[in-house]
Amino acid sequence: MSDTDTALGAPAERREGREKVTGTARYAAEHTVPGRVHAWPVTAAIACGAVRAIDTTEALRSAGVITVLTHENAPRLADADDPTLAVLQNSRVPHRGWPIALVVAETLEAARAGAAAVRVEYEAQDHDVTLTDSHPGAYVPEEANGGYPGHRERGAPEGAFASAAVRVDAAYRVPPLHNHPMEPHAATAQWDGHRLVVHDSSQGATAVRATLAALFRLPEDQVTVVAEHVGGGFGSKGTARPHVVLAAMAARRTGRPVTVVLPRRFLPALVGHRAPTLHRVRLGADEQGSLTALLHEVTTHTSRIKEFVEQAAVPARVMYASPHSRTTHRVVPLDVPSPSWMRAPGEAPGMFALESAMDELAVALGTDPVELRIANEPDTEPDSGKPFSSRHLVECLREGARRFGWAHRDPHPGPHSSGPLLVGSGVAAAVYPVLIQPSTATARALPNGNFTVRVNATDIGTGARTVLAQVAADALGVPLDRVRTEIGNSDLPSASLAGGSSGTASWGWAVHEACTRLRAGLAEHTGQLPEPGLTASADTAGTADADSDYARHAFGAHFAEVAVDTVTGEVRVRRLLGVYAAGHILNSRTARSQFIGGMTMGLGMALTEGSTMDAAFGDFTESDLAAYHVPVHADVPAVEAHWIDEDDPHLNPMGSKGIGEIGIVGTAAAIGNAVHHATGVRYRELPLTPDRVLTGLPSFMAR
Ligand code: MOS
Repeated sequence: MSDTDTALGAPAERREGREKVTGTARYAAEHTVPGRVHAWPVTAAIACGAVRAIDTTEALRSAGVITVLTHENAPRLADADDPTLAVLQNSRVPHRGWPIALVVAETLEAARAGAAAVRVEYEAQDHDVTLTDSHPGAYVPEEANGGYPGHRERGAPEGAFASAAVRVDAAYRVPPLHNHPMEPHAATAQWDGHRLVVHDSSQGATAVRATLAALFRLPEDQVTVVAEHVGGGFGSKGTARPHVVLAAMAARRTGRPVTVVLPRRFLPALVGHRAPTLHRVRLGADEQGSLTALLHEVTTHTSRIKEFVEQAAVPARVMYASPHSRTTHRVVPLDVPSPSWMRAPGEAPGMFALESAMDELAVALGTDPVELRIANEPDTEPDSGKPFSSRHLVECLREGARRFGWAHRDPHPGPHSSGPLLVGSGVAAAVYPVLIQPSTATARALPNGNFTVRVNATDIGTGARTVLAQVAADALGVPLDRVRTEIGNSDLPSASLAGGSSGTASWGWAVHEACTRLRAGLAEHTGQLPEPGLTASADTAGTADADSDYARHAFGAHFAEVAVDTVTGEVRVRRLLGVYAAGHILNSRTARSQFIGGMTMGLGMALTEGSTMDAAFGDFTESDLAAYHVPVHADVPAVEAHWIDEDDPHLNPMGSKGIGEIGIVGTAAAIGNAVHHATGVRYRELPLTPDRVLTGLPSFMAR
């Protein structure tokens, strides 16, 4: 094996790839422990109120049913930090789809039939699930998700906007969106005396262990959570979700191992969703195209039991120089399911609005949208005044423009006909913060010359297992095939979750440090290693999470070419091209997958994905994959991801920035801007479905 095979950056193959494609990789519901039974939740059919009576007689008589848990008989949990996990503890119904019973049976089919036989009487109250700009319940939260201040203001934004030579004042809407990972949320729980062992489909087993230990009043070392293979998460598995609590409760009550797999239709109400966002963006500029005022105001919803505020105005604090600025969030608690993280929370919807508005400003100024962005590059991070640790947005825009063939684009907005279709192209920028969390890891040198690295990282499909081996091999200075990684088990050294695009930086830092220490130890060692080998460990608490003097973000640029059919209203993306500046890329093969995966999800956000709250029933109407359309292969044309390697000494020992989320950021805006370029029509509400596109087209254009 040559040196380049071990070096960071190499296109190392996914270590578990063979297991996955041959079906031998086991997921949370596939641990067929002897005596294992199944459970099916019963969920609330009202949006607000309480369960008055629940009759389980018929369900209990149903073949194969072992027990039915309700709020009247379920095990009592300790107070939950996360109110969405306090399931079957009282009769309150905070939203439709809230679990009100759990039927445990010998088979999945029997559990499902039993659930259908549970009779429930409700005390229903009036509900309100409709988000509006002028909702009287709206307030400005102290913090939005991620700990960002709810409101920030510099200068005199209203006055500066009013007196600006060129103005854009536009409202955008992003609907609720659902994560829908390929593997639905699932857990298999088993009690062995006072020990709880759980296989959970989760993005972070260390945190799930802490949550279960607290809820069931156990010391953490009596709980093991395994998440060896996870079929995606996109944030919806970031922390414990109700299914794992229900599985552990049912296993405790029955004394049997219990599997809970949430049916796909239950996911929208139970695992979090991207909250809808209503945006008002105001951009004021001088005649030369320099921004003088930037205002981004976002209204969103949360549930009655948990405040979660989609931080959609936050990217406007990072992107462009402007002496006057306001970025603010307002949130309305409604009788809706609790929203939560979905790939690039904040940035994904926020950059749809901001980057669409920048395109509108470019049109108003008659400026090229690439050049407009370059003209408004800030010297320091506008909101904090901190210097950027590295920022290569301009290079991404230029390199993307070159590769895409932007120079040949007609600078004027459409309509641009090409045969029976309208064709256009658009651009948008991307940003995602550098997030790092402390983790621990151990590295062991074995007498046979091999190495074992242990860290409770989670590979949710990203290639984490593989890239951590690369980090270790690089730090140890040994070939990649001599390093084995053990991840996905809470008995391993504690580590942070796979979220916020922070996994590789966080776990990798601990792995790098453990391996560096081990290498130093080996250098001092003479003769044969003793039998257990030589071990070194690392804990990056206090180091990895230290405040930086630098503003640290990954940047990127997205270019899209679309064709719009004015007969059917269908928008097809013909080409999608992204260029990213995200530090050192540690595995070119898996990184490319992350980028194009994010771009594909952005394409879905632009064209097909959208959910609506049914005002009458308080339900998400698009709750399965027949109604909630994620892109399929036929929707995804030539997608290209490229990157500019950055040398940034202010990140982590590998010099990497996160890459899991930036691909979705700005992609929908690039596509929307391309649709404007094709048609001359500005659509400000996602997704751009045929009905919406047709409705917006002027009558002379619709044939
Ligand atoms: Mo991602 S939404 O941070 O799991």
